[in-house]
Amino acid sequence: MPTYFKTSGHLLVCQHVNCKARGAQLLYTALWNALDREKLAYFKTGGSVRLTESGCLGACSFGPVLCVYRQRAGQLEEGWYAAADYALGMAVARAVHAGEDLPTDRKYGP
Ligand code: FES
Repeated sequence: MPTYFKTSGHLLVCQHVNCKARGAQLLYTALWNALDREKLAYFKTGGSVRLTESGCLGACSFGPVLCVYRQRAGQLEEGWYAAADYALGMAVARAVHAGEDLPTDRKYGP
């Protein structure tokens, strides 16, 4: 059986054409490295954040697009972000790890 990693939330960074043209590939790599280095990544002891690449998230003119899903207070919470950059991605990741409110900067949707 594979190992199951309990996580505090799941961040996805679009890697489709328009977001890539706006730096999404570098953003994903930078976030991956930082989550690893700061021990926020789920595979690190004490870490809890999952980060993956995604296909188009449907807001192609506003990329890089980042979204996050997590369980909070027994409910599924989602956060959607346009024009995401490293600082915003790390703020989202830290909020998810700490169980705090998601940043409101550049957030759209529900
Ligand atoms: S290309 Fe990223 S949201 Fe469509």
